[in-house]
Amino acid sequence: MNNRVLVTRRIYPEALALLEAAARVDYHDTAEGLSAAELEAAVADKHAIVCQLTDRIDAAVIDAGADLKVIANVAVGYDNIDLAAASARGIVVTNTPGVLTETTADLAFALMLAAGRRIVEADRFLRAGRWRRWQIDLLCGHDVHQKTLGILGFGRIGRAVARRARGFGMRMLYHSPAPVAARVEREHGVEYADRESLFRRADYLSIHVPLNEHTRHLVGANELELMKPTAVLVNTSRGPVVDEAALARALASRRIAAAGLDVFEAEPEVSPKLIGLDNVVLVPHIGSASIETRTRMCTMAAENAIAVLQGERPPNPVDRE
Ligand code: GLV
Repeated sequence: MNNRVLVTRRIYPEALALLEAAARVDYHDTAEGLSAAELEAAVADKHAIVCQLTDRIDAAVIDAGADLKVIANVAVGYDNIDLAAASARGIVVTNTPGVLTETTADLAFALMLAAGRRIVEADRFLRAGRWRRWQIDLLCGHDVHQKTLGILGFGRIGRAVARRARGFGMRMLYHSPAPVAARVEREHGVEYADRESLFRRADYLSIHVPLNEHTRHLVGANELELMKPTAVLVNTSRGPVVDEAALARALASRRIAAAGLDVFEAEPEVSPKLIGLDNVVLVPHIGSASIETRTRMCTMAAENAIAVLQGERPPNPVDRE
């Protein structure tokens, strides 16, 4: 038990038990986590950090951990970690891919349905006591079935969304830096589209790219301008992929019909302009939030940290590509 692990925030008990069986654990059982200064102090004598996407693991934190061997993020995205600083110090960074794919795709689909069919707005209408009668044009939205779905980013989660869309008889286009193999296209029933035609042709556009220097504000005023006035945008990836101010303007002016957002540019802040709109469904970054998946994400991160501490290759080192 010579290894010391910092767990920055509350994790599911199954993961804590794994860590406690393998190392001495400095466990911060809170939702808030640690300030930057507290992180730097806490990491000073640790060999591993188990952290979350709300922890900013920058060069200062990394440099404060003289004995640090591994940073195990409880998330598939790792834009909160300075990879260059970690790799310069030979520190392994790991994430939790795969396990949250289907859960996140479920939420993307839920947001498509909720935004397209105005479900949250309808719920608020009913609870406000405004329902007087069945009415031919009451809360009419847009169909999802048989519409065209544009998938921006065709990795694990984009493909899982495509599998769901097939059941709704949707026509599916995707865009990614390069087309995927023809076999994968056939298997998922998708067609490659260039970026501009993806925005032009999609009735529903769902974003599934990681956040990096190429994808920040990938969807801005110009892209929204290309979209149909009946289109619905869904983002379950990372907030900064979308220019939130431009999106609020497009929704307010009905440049596009609706949106469903799980992620925001400056979480937990959400633009007041979005909050004031009826045609956007807003949820607080819950893409992977099922008990099963969140538990598994925590145990995966624990397994990754333990593997490195035991001198083994971890199951999920991040791909620097
Ligand atoms: C959640 O957003 C994740 O990256 O796992």
